[in-house]
Formats: sequence, structure tokens, C-alpha cells
Amino acid sequence: MGTILDVKNLKISFRTSGGTVKAVRDISFKLERGKTLAIVGESGSGKSVTSKAILGILAGNAIIEGGEILYDGKDLLKITEEEMCDIRGNRISMIFQDPLSSLNPIVKIGKQITEAMLLKDRGNRREAKKEFDNILGLVKSNSAAALGEGSRAQVDGRIKTFENFNAEAIRMENAYNTARAAAEDLIAKTEDFLFLTSKKQKIDVKSSVKALADNLKKVRNEFFSHGYDQKLDAASQNLREAVRGYKAAKDQSVPENITAAVKNAEDLLRELTGRTEPDFFRIGYYKMKNPQADLHALPVEDLNETAKDYLDQNFMNDFLAMEEQGVAWSFNKALEKKKKVVETLRANRLVFAEGGMNKSASLKWAKDLASEVEDSIDRMEINKDSAAYTFRFAMSDAIERYFNAVKRNPKEEARFARQSRRREALIAKGRTIDWKVVPKVVYDLDELKDNVTRTIDNMTEHYEEYIRSADQVDFYARSVQTVDYMKERGSQMVFRVTRSMAREKAIQLMEEVGIPEPRIRYNQYPFEFSGGMRQRIVIAIALAANPDILICDEPTTALDVTIQAQILELINKLKAERNLSVIFITHDLGVVANMADDIAVMYAGKIVEFGTADEIFYDPRHPYTWALLSSMPDLDTKEKLDAIPGTPPNMIYPPEGDAFAVRNKYAMQIDFEMQPPAFYVSDTHWAASWLLHPDAPKVDPPKIIVDRIERMKKKAGGELG
Ligand SMILES: Nc1ncnc2c1ncn2[C@@H]1O[C@H](COP(=O)(O)OP(=O)(O)O)[C@@H](O)[C@H]1O
Ligand SMILES: [Mg+2]
Repeated sequence: MGTILDVKNLKISFRTSGGTVKAVRDISFKLERGKTLAIVGESGSGKSVTSKAILGILAGNAIIEGGEILYDGKDLLKITEEEMCDIRGNRISMIFQDPLSSLNPIVKIGKQITEAMLLKDRGNRREAKKEFDNILGLVKSNSAAALGEGSRAQVDGRIKTFENFNAEAIRMENAYNTARAAAEDLIAKTEDFLFLTSKKQKIDVKSSVKALADNLKKVRNEFFSHGYDQKLDAASQNLREAVRGYKAAKDQSVPENITAAVKNAEDLLRELTGRTEPDFFRIGYYKMKNPQADLHALPVEDLNETAKDYLDQNFMNDFLAMEEQGVAWSFNKALEKKKKVVETLRANRLVFAEGGMNKSASLKWAKDLASEVEDSIDRMEINKDSAAYTFRFAMSDAIERYFNAVKRNPKEEARFARQSRRREALIAKGRTIDWKVVPKVVYDLDELKDNVTRTIDNMTEHYEEYIRSADQVDFYARSVQTVDYMKERGSQMVFRVTRSMAREKAIQLMEEVGIPEPRIRYNQYPFEFSGGMRQRIVIAIALAANPDILICDEPTTALDVTIQAQILELINKLKAERNLSVIFITHDLGVVANMADDIAVMYAGKIVEFGTADEIFYDPRHPYTWALLSSMPDLDTKEKLDAIPGTPPNMIYPPEGDAFAVRNKYAMQIDFEMQPPAFYVSDTHWAASWLLHPDAPKVDPPKIIVDRIERMKKKAGGELG
């Protein structure tokens, strides 16, 4: 639950030889965790620019004029390329219209999927350790503070115990993982062997089989191969005997007894990898307290249960109770500070706008505000508060922008005037001139000033909301969440992805995205796949690193209709199974009918209407949304489509008022003169159209839409009834 990505007041332009293209003009939206947000609009409305800004892959001539993209305690517009690299692909993935643009034509599919996984693994372990230590340190200091000085020794003791058994767990898990990785490696080798020999490919049978026999001992581990020692020995022996006296045949055929021995080894290894994994975190404690206990007396499933009960009763319940105090203490302390921050922010709201401060005074002022905000962050929160963490950047950035513009505007105006005069003088002399004078950006100073107050307002509102919901926080749930988080990080410290594990996972992923015969497909090149299959591969690559957010930019536009439906279904399925948050970009409203939770309708760089999918389809309010709906093919009727008349405006000189006015037969005078504000329709629905002004004449949507809504309602009713 909650917002995962928060885009605020985003403005993006492009410098071109014809002038500045204002591609995205102040858009804001939130992506909710586990939901699909569709961004819909004609070509050129700024959809792709928005998605590229999120991933930090805008073209070189892009200027980010303002705004924030908040994600996990960071503003994606402000972070370094190195930090962005970590997020791009790992946390936020993207698929494009043309799958070929994301695939390397001369690299086999399997390698393209595993590369992503191997790349991710490197930084992860160090990061996990850092996080683990950080959180445990916070639990310790806050719990001690909450329980008072007298309890410090007790708190220290519990933290030490936690560290100790976790270290024991990590040691066991590490050894287990090594054995498991060896087994997975061998499975991949047996498969290749069986596949290649069945195809009569030339391989060194004797040394391959011997290596297999030797390497079987690497899978030994007290947990991983428990109870299998004899079977492993026998399999190894069997392999050696099978190749004794083997001579390569001319036709590369391999005797039945060899393939049988290899198959037997493979089956055995598969059986091992298929067994339940011990819960090392809990067993770590059990073992620490009962060093003599026989951990193998029970089946793993029962051992996991026993260890869980034992840990909960002897340690974890007390630990959680202690931690809960710390969590509450930290929260309440932060809450007090937040209340004070709100006062400071309110009091400071107009200081900058009215004070006539110079740049350094303003930056100092912003820094003080930011320090107060940062000081009010609850460091024990697992889900970081992006707005608070990025406030410093947002403030100083807004102020920098303002003063840069103060300096740059007169300079730029002077240059433009000077060069224009020179050009005109030359023309007056009768010369033919083959160059133009292009105005660069001149910023609106008032607007830049407003950015500063708006940053303060956003923060104030954000904290007020926080304060309002403070009494609903469940500290016990938060404590459990913290322990789960540490447990997960503990596991990640020892989780090493080997090449063969990556291969196995790639094959699983290929299965998950619906590629038939993935083991064969793994070794093929992109050209051997159909368009739909290629898009599935691109989705598999996008998912390889287990991202939180998937951005799909017209993923089905290049595919034919039946394949389109399958890919949409796949994206829906993956979203549900993996709890992904999806931004789905398309020019075709029809495509998102069955998949979007929320829809943002975009026109000429602005969001003109926003609502839930039901609200957009059943109660559309903006004439542009009507136009999009009318041009949407309807499978039920064979009605002729109403193409939207006219073309979108030139974005170098966007119109003053509602950009859609010239194409809008319902347009009023004011539409040409003034930008409409967002008019409230419901808590989840707004539209920026003057038609919603209380004084506007009442206008019904076009008949084609009213009829269609009737039909859709009937159909939905029919399905429900
Ligand atoms: N690198 C660029 N240079 C100049 N203009 C660009 C650039 N990239 C995009 N634009 C312009 O920005 C506007 C929005 O483009 P885009 O987001 O790609 O539209 P769409 O909604 O079709 O995805 C268009 O007017 C486009 O011409
Ligand atoms: Mg696009």
C-alpha cells in the first residue's frame, strides 16, 4: 500500500534549432504500490519523455525545467548517474515498443537474460551488510533510550544474542548455498551433455563424465545433502564405470549406459535441489542454545517449525516487545519534531518571496529549514520518507534555478536582441541571410519564485497528513517488519549468484513469461523469435533483477491484435504475482480498459484528466478524453471511428489557454485565453476543462460516447447479474 513513485510538477523542454520544445508542462501524478497507472494520449503528448525522465535516459538536448520524481527516499532528478544505474533495471525496469531495440542481435537470448542477473548480484551483498548493521544499530540505541538507562545491559545482551545467532545462521546458510550452487551447476552440465549428445554434437565424453563424477562431492553439505551420502557415492561410482573403456564412435553416438548414468546423476541432483530449505535464521538460534542437539533428527519441515517455536518463545517475543518500545519511541520523537517543523515551514512560507534575499542568504535559509526537516525523519522507518529525505535538494534546487534565471534572463534577452538587430540590419542592406536567430529559454521569474513556496507547501501538507494518521500506526507490526527486513538482508549477504544459478533462473523466467521449450530457446538468437516472443523475452529481462516498478511504453503497438492481447494478459499476470507497480503508456485507450487501475489522459505535455479506469470510461469529463474514447475501436458495434480532427499544437509555442481548444467543438472563449485549473470531480477524479466551471453551460458528451457507456454498463451489469 501507499505511494511508490511520486512525480511532482515535472517540466521538461528540449533545445532544438527551431526553439525550445516544451514537451512536458508541469505534470504531477502518483503511482500506488501494486497498481497500474495508464498514461494515455496521442503521439507527441509527452508520454515517452515522462517515462524516460523517470529512468534518467532523456536525450542530451533535454532541459529539466523543474519538478521532482520521488522514489525510495530519493529524487531521481537529483541523484548521481552511479545511483541511477543502481535503480535503472534493478528497481525500475522498462520495456519499449520495439523489442529489437532492447535486444542485442548477435548475443544468444539466454546470455542476455543472465547478464542482467549477474550484474545485479555484485553490489548487493555489501549493500545488504551495511543495511543490516545500520538497522540493528538503530534498534539498539532506540530501545535503550525508550527503556531507560537501567535496561541498557539487557538491551545490549539481546542485541548481542541477535547478532550471534544471525552470524551462526549466515555461516550455515553460506555453506548450504555453496553446495546448492554446485548442484545447480552440475544440473546445467548434465543437461548440456544430454542435449548435445542427443544431437550428436562432438564433445569429449570421457572427461566430461569424469568431471561430473569428481564434482559430485562438492554438493555435500550437512543440510543440503543430508541422508544422500550413499546415493551420491553410488552415482559417482556409476559414472566412472560407465565411461571405463569408452571409445568415441564415428557418428558421435554415445552408449545407452553412459547417458543413463548421467541422467541418474541429474535426477539425484534435482531431487536435492527440490527439497525444502532450512530456515537458517531460526535454526541459528536453536543451534546456538542447543549445541548438542541433532539437527537432523527431524525432517527439515519439522525442524523449521520446532526452531520457530523455540525462537519465538525463548527470544523473539521478548525481543519484539523490546523493539516495539524503541520503534514507538523513535516514531514519537520524530512526530514531535515534525509538528515543530510544520510550524517553522508555515512561518517561513513567504520569507523568500517577500524578503528580497540574495542568493547566499537564501541558500543559508533553505539549509536551516532542510536541517530541521532532516532532523525530524524517523530513521527506524523501513519505507523511507522520500519527501523528507529530498527536501534539501528540492529547496536548494528551486532557489538555484531562480537565481540562475535572474542572471541568465537579461543576458539572454540582450543576446537575442543584439543578434536580431544585426540580422535585420544585414537584411536591410539587401543581403540574403541563411541563418536565423533562435530565442533560447527565458524563464518566468514569478513562477520560479512560486516553486520555492510550493516546495514548502508540499512538505507542510505531507507532514500534516503524517501527523493526522499518527495514532493509527501499529508499532508491533512495524517491529515485525523490521526483523523481517534484517532477516532478509542477512540472507542477502550470503546469496551469491553463480553463472549456472543465473541460467536456471533465466529458464524459469522464460517459462514464467510463456516461452515454450525454454531450454532450447535459451541458446537461440533474437532473429529466431517472433515479434510476440521477443517482447516476452524483453519482459523476462526486465524482470530478471526483480524490480518494484515496470514501465511499459507502448509495449504492444508493434504487435498484431491477437498477440497484443496475450502480452497484456501476461503483464497483468506478472503484476499480480509479483506485486509490481506498473506505468503503462499507450495512445490507445482501448488497450488499458482491462488493466489500468488509474488513468492519466495527457495532451500537449499536460495531464488533462485523471481518474480511476471506471471514472475515465464511464464518466469522462474532458473533451479530449471524449475524443479519445470516440476514436477507440469498438468490437461490439461496427461503428465508424471518429478520428480526432486537427493536429496537436506546435510545442515550441504552446497555446495560452487549453491546448485542445482549437480542436474542440465545445470550446468557449476562455479556453483560448486561460489555462483551466484542475476541477474536482471526485476524490479520485479531476479534469482540467473550463466546461466544469460552475458558470459554464452544461454540455453532454457526444452521443457516440453516451451510447457506448450505456452499452458498457449493460454488458457489465449482465456479467455481474
Ligand atoms: N530529443 C528531443 N528533441 C526535441 N524534441 C523532442 C525530443 N524528444 C521528444 N521531443 C518532443 O517532445 C514531445 C513529446 O514527445 P514524446 O514524449 O516522445 O511523445 P509520446 O507521447 O508520443 O511518447 C514531442 O513534441 C517530441 O517531438
Ligand atoms: Mg512515445
